[in-house]
Amino acid sequence: MQIFLIGFMGSGKSFTAKALSELLDRPYLDLDDYIEKRGGQSIAQIFKFGGEQHFRKIEHDSLKAIIKEYPNHIIATGGGAPVFHNNLELMKACGLTVYLDATIDILAKRLENELLNRPLLQNATGEKLKVLIKTLLEPRLSYYQQCHIAVEIMKEDLPVAKIIAKYFENIS
Ligand code: S3P
Repeated sequence: MQIFLIGFMGSGKSFTAKALSELLDRPYLDLDDYIEKRGGQSIAQIFKFGGEQHFRKIEHDSLKAIIKEYPNHIIATGGGAPVFHNNLELMKACGLTVYLDATIDILAKRLENELLNRPLLQNATGEKLKVLIKTLLEPRLSYYQQCHIAVEIMKEDLPVAKIIAKYFENIS
């Protein structure tokens, strides 16, 4: 069974995937890394040259490939992945989906220094970044909230991995 980590940019999906991988002794994979390696282009380049729709198609195809190729992995997905095509249904059908739920303030604080490769954030900072996060996050919430479980992100990511590991051990 796969574990899919879902949530907005900056919610700690990649960090949590690594921590969870150690706790559960299972391999992990990052969907964006997979897309970049497979296509030989960075996420920013894919957006720049093909636009968002093109990226979403690649993201969908890559997710389907990962589901087939890596049935026991922990997978950190991109923040928009569950919102497009039938990605959320696909993930829910074959694994445990976990929403990493973080406030706009936490997200903004983390993202301010991590804008590279996040074309949707347009290099915004300060209040502009918060407004942008809110605008993108609100329509996504109804998707995120359909995940099997939600874990609230506080200041540290590590306890989050512990909470998920405990839950996973109990159900498997
Ligand atoms: C996106 C999130 C990014 C990446 C792309 C689009 C989004 O992944 O897939 O820039 O739509 O929220 P992270 O959530 O890992 O930053």
